[in-house]
Amino acid sequence: MNDPTQIRSVAQELSDLEVAILLCRAAHGHCRIDTARDNISDVAKELALICSNTFNLSYNILDCSADTTFDEFCVELLPSIARRRSQSTKVAPELPIVDVVIATNFNYVDERIQLQALELMRSKKLVAQDGIYVAPERFVFLPLVATASSDAQPKLNRHLNDHLIISHYHDTEDGYVYLEDANGWISDDQISASSVVRKSDIPIPREHPLVDQAAVEKLEEAANAVIVNADLIRYHQDIVVFLRLSRAVAGGISSRSNILFMKLSKFLAALHGIDFLTPSIVALAAKKVFRHRIVVATTEDDRSLQYGSDPAVVAQILAHANPDTILESVLALEAPL
Ligand SMILES: *[C@@H]1O[C@H](CO)[C@@H](O)[C@H](O)[C@H]1NC(C)=O
Ligand SMILES: *[C@@H]1O[C@H](CO)[C@@H](O)[C@H](O)[C@H]1NC(C)=O
Repeated sequence: MNDPTQIRSVAQELSDLEVAILLCRAAHGHCRIDTARDNISDVAKELALICSNTFNLSYNILDCSADTTFDEFCVELLPSIARRRSQSTKVAPELPIVDVVIATNFNYVDERIQLQALELMRSKKLVAQDGIYVAPERFVFLPLVATASSDAQPKLNRHLNDHLIISHYHDTEDGYVYLEDANGWISDDQISASSVVRKSDIPIPREHPLVDQAAVEKLEEAANAVIVNADLIRYHQDIVVFLRLSRAVAGGISSRSNILFMKLSKFLAALHGIDFLTPSIVALAAKKVFRHRIVVATTEDDRSLQYGSDPAVVAQILAHANPDTILESVLALEAPL
């Protein structure tokens, strides 16, 4: 039997980035991590340390750019010890890849590579010239992109973006569990990715929970047992409908997002140690599920212009619209109870 309070007490000790990875592992999903441009490499290092220390997982950091080729992308999926391969076999070999891929600046890679990454997330397989790349059962792909909350969405393929269950904005003020503990603020330029690997072998001085496979499975089990009453189903649907009808939203509220919204709500309830949904858990899920999906409307999108609205007025209304403000306004609507 599950002890739900145990899950909650573990969750309370985790940082936001750790919770994001835990949710991905348990829900068989993937997460977009957003942060400020100057902080992107520190966040990548922190994610790497979380993988090895908190979750005992293998990982690679992929530094992506517009020049990244498909072959480079594939090789970087492999654990470093497996990079030199014998060419003797004629049959395409199966190439097991790492547990977690942290893809920095993934929004810059060629659309075709983005679609290959989507294929890998979907099927856990990628067919390349040198073999079939096979991802583990709970493979996690983390596109790490630079955004500011007022910015437009980063350029990710629409289907890939929709496939990601959640996104998380890492504010520098939230800090870093491992980078700070290891040796204070680490500056971007000095520390190479390889030194992160070495550092992760040094035991972290503070007490920090190890979230093993059993804990991940427990969370999944608990989430599947969460009960949703009729009021909360309606609240869910209201949020989706209000988002779709919002004049500031030009798109992105897909049917897939609707399903993931319910799924994530249950996982968040389980993470809070309860087996039912509450309005506040649903609201939290909405922020995590829809933030990266919302396509913010431009003045030209506004239907009311066809009926004689003043473009300047419409522009003023939409000027402050971004995914965060849109979600705030929708969630400010009355919740049940
Ligand atoms: C994050 O970026 C800001 C500038 O945007 C900078 O002031 C801050 O020092 C950076 N934080 C870290 C940990 O590098
Ligand atoms: C970490 O994982 C490896 C296998 O991937 C396993 O042998 C080892 O016991 C694990 N360590 C802990 C602390 O669970």
